[in-house]
Amino acid sequence: MAKNKSLYVFVCNECGHESSKWMGQCPMCKAWNSFSEEKIPEKSKKVNANNGRLVDKPILISEVSVQKEDRILTGMKEFDRVLGGGLVPGSLTLLGGDPGIGKSTLLLQVCKELSDRAINVLYISGEESAKQIKMRANRIGEFKNHFYLYCETDIERIENQILHEKPQIVIIDSIQTISNSELAGVPGSVSQVRDATAIFLQIAKQNDISIFIVGHVTKEGTVAGPRMLEHMVDAVLYVEGDGHTSYRILRGVKNRFGATNEIGVFEMGMTGLQEVENPSAYMLQGKPENASGSVVTCSLEGTRPILIEVQALVCDTNFNIPRRQATGTDFNRLNLLMAVVEKRVGIRLSQSDAYINVAGGMRVNEPAIDLAMVLAIVSSHRNIVIEQTMVVFGEVGLSGEVRSISQIQPRLLEAKKLGYSTCMIPKNAEVGVEIEGSMKIIRVSSIIEAIQHL
Ligand code: TYD
Ligand code: MG
Repeated sequence: MAKNKSLYVFVCNECGHESSKWMGQCPMCKAWNSFSEEKIPEKSKKVNANNGRLVDKPILISEVSVQKEDRILTGMKEFDRVLGGGLVPGSLTLLGGDPGIGKSTLLLQVCKELSDRAINVLYISGEESAKQIKMRANRIGEFKNHFYLYCETDIERIENQILHEKPQIVIIDSIQTISNSELAGVPGSVSQVRDATAIFLQIAKQNDISIFIVGHVTKEGTVAGPRMLEHMVDAVLYVEGDGHTSYRILRGVKNRFGATNEIGVFEMGMTGLQEVENPSAYMLQGKPENASGSVVTCSLEGTRPILIEVQALVCDTNFNIPRRQATGTDFNRLNLLMAVVEKRVGIRLSQSDAYINVAGGMRVNEPAIDLAMVLAIVSSHRNIVIEQTMVVFGEVGLSGEVRSISQIQPRLLEAKKLGYSTCMIPKNAEVGVEIEGSMKIIRVSSIIEAIQHL
């Protein structure tokens, strides 16, 4: 039977761009071969009828009543911190991350904490059976009442259950498995994911239920396919970490109720994720003593300063083109800083291999660690050991100048807390009274000056 052409549309699986004909490359996000054919949902559909409409008619802002800060504390300090100080009722939060990184584990732990305090939680799993979840739950601890499991993938049934049970918290694990039989497209396709998210958004807002949606991440590092999921939800959190280390970072990349880029640090253990109280000490674990090429700096993640060790290894090359490698930081930044050192300080590096590593496995892209990278490179090249009690921060410009960075104060306080007594900072950075006198401050205006202090 010939299908009715007008009812079908081609949708980009990456960004959700719609087109009436198939295209090899998406004109919006430039992704290749990302278009798939999908059915246009019928106009009468419930979601479309009141999609996004959260109040009935225009109202005066002065008449909107808000209960003051009625956030629910989950009891996991690191998790609450990333949420901006607890869970907001009626919020929709997306939790993304690589498969196997610990998304389900983290949410299960949150469920345990909440249900222990008599908050009703409904955990909807489209991926695992109740038995599998129970097995994981056993590793985490003993669950009391108030925690309900529901293994289902059909959106209509899920919606009915939520509205019937009226829990305070709902977990959807994962959005890519939820489907609506009325729509074309396999579960996980743009139209399915968008439809399901719109329904959850509505349920959350109208019933004051906080909903967490788990989303898988593609190899490009975005939530599988539909980027627009990020626009629909109130907060987007990512679980990061690599398979080789046991630490996990929970990072807020969007938050309508708090600061973004806030992070929480966890360690995966035998009984689920444990909170790391002092990430700086954790990141500096195993730092070598009296080794050249090792510099401690401080990176600011959201509002939280974390001390990290930047390591460099510079040696003569055996290749025609020297090898350069950056782990945990930006490769192009490494090349740029090496060019600045070569040109402005006159140290010949073009015949040297260079490897730079942020120890501990964290990823830092902040310019504030530039000066530490430069000193690590020079320290390794000249085989000079840098003072053990020194931390270094500052951005490096193309003329070799050391530029000021934001939020010096919390970084200095963190360094002081961990027993560092010397600090190398940009020349005109302001130092507060708490630091003055208690730490030796070295002010530098260029990398030449900084290198002279080694
Ligand atoms: P999981 O939460 O299933 O990942 P996701 O939902 O993101 O796909 O994480 C499972 C991984 O965590 C698995 O490799 C086993 C490990 N794990 C532990 O190391 N300790 C534990 O206590 C638990 C529950 C899991
Ligand atoms: Mg999972």
